[in-house]
Amino acid sequence: MNQKYLARHVVGLRPSGIRKFFDIVATMKDVISLGIGEPDFVTPQPIVDAGIRSLQAGETHYTSNAGLIELRQAISNHIFKLYGVEYDPKSEVIVTVGVSEALYLVMTALLNPGEEVLVPTPCFVSYQAEVTLAGGVPVEIPTYVADGFQVRPEALLEAITPRTKAVLLGYPNNPTGAVYTRSVLEQIAKIAEQHDLVIISDELYDQLVYGVEHVCFPSIPGMRQRTVLLGGFSKNYAMTGWRAGFACGSEDIIKGLVRIHQYTIMSAPTMSQKAALEAITNGHEFVVQMRNEYDRRRRLIVGGLNSLGLPTFEPKGAFYAFPNISVTGMDDETFAQKLLEEERVACVPGSSFGAGGEGYIRCSYATSYEKIEEALHRFESFMRRHG
Ligand SMILES: Cc1ncc(COP(=O)(O)O)c(C=O)c1O
Repeated sequence: MNQKYLARHVVGLRPSGIRKFFDIVATMKDVISLGIGEPDFVTPQPIVDAGIRSLQAGETHYTSNAGLIELRQAISNHIFKLYGVEYDPKSEVIVTVGVSEALYLVMTALLNPGEEVLVPTPCFVSYQAEVTLAGGVPVEIPTYVADGFQVRPEALLEAITPRTKAVLLGYPNNPTGAVYTRSVLEQIAKIAEQHDLVIISDELYDQLVYGVEHVCFPSIPGMRQRTVLLGGFSKNYAMTGWRAGFACGSEDIIKGLVRIHQYTIMSAPTMSQKAALEAITNGHEFVVQMRNEYDRRRRLIVGGLNSLGLPTFEPKGAFYAFPNISVTGMDDETFAQKLLEEERVACVPGSSFGAGGEGYIRCSYATSYEKIEEALHRFESFMRRHG
């Protein structure tokens, strides 16, 4: 392909390892996919109905740039109720096209050329790219299974330079399933204060935790003013296709986000905002139902992989298992490739998620219990040959 017209920062972007892999999967038959990071559930009916009602009522226009005020109010109420953090819906909340857009906005709004963002890895595949696209430099901070994939505060400290602007946290974590503990978060807070760093906290999976507390970063004393909280609807409410999310933060930062959003997006889709309003106001029972089912599947897959000799950290949140596959002597790309070719099970090589992901694969359990059972049978026959 002739890329001569493309800007250098775009040519330099690595294609997502996930997409590359799933282009191959799409051409194959009888594949069990543990690869895609989205709920297998269809959006709960009352939420769908709210979107349909909005269209039928002729709400086919833009909303205000920052989003429907009823939705911003509901987001603000929700965060206050769950975490005790107060955001003014008029000036401290913006509705975005998913956390994906919120990430883009926050990086573009905060970063001057060459400023560094510390990114604990393995992490969601977009983080490094979003920093790069905004002219910043992502600095990967690997996390390790021995620490339960928690960030080592001393590793953050060591990576700080005069150019460090922010830390980008993602928890419950994609792909490891780690949920950062209060004690680790408090240590990060101390570092942020000492070095005047912004914390960008992607808490998209906040309600998908299993038996542990989710600590919302801005609820840590002193952190609200220096945190941009990112959240949304895609995972908690099975709404990936609606493309709705939000960012909350201090008025000065949110103003910057709104400025970019108004020129690039205008406003998030109106019917999706109405569906999101229904979700966040009345959707709790569906979250609980889906979470219980994810938990059942989580136990199955983690137990199954461990018993096949693939050491698997117990994920406390999100819907991913992250087994270590080094026992097979293969690297993670080779393992994923062979597993797909020989057993028709699709997983994502851990190295797609940055430093620290090598030697692992990500298996999503946002797929049916029966499919996970069948996938484990296929893993078993794979491990008989390669274990
Ligand atoms: C950690 C994390 N953040 C953000 C996103 C993007 O989500 P959204 O659908 O809200 O854009 C994903 C999607 O997989 C994710 O895993």
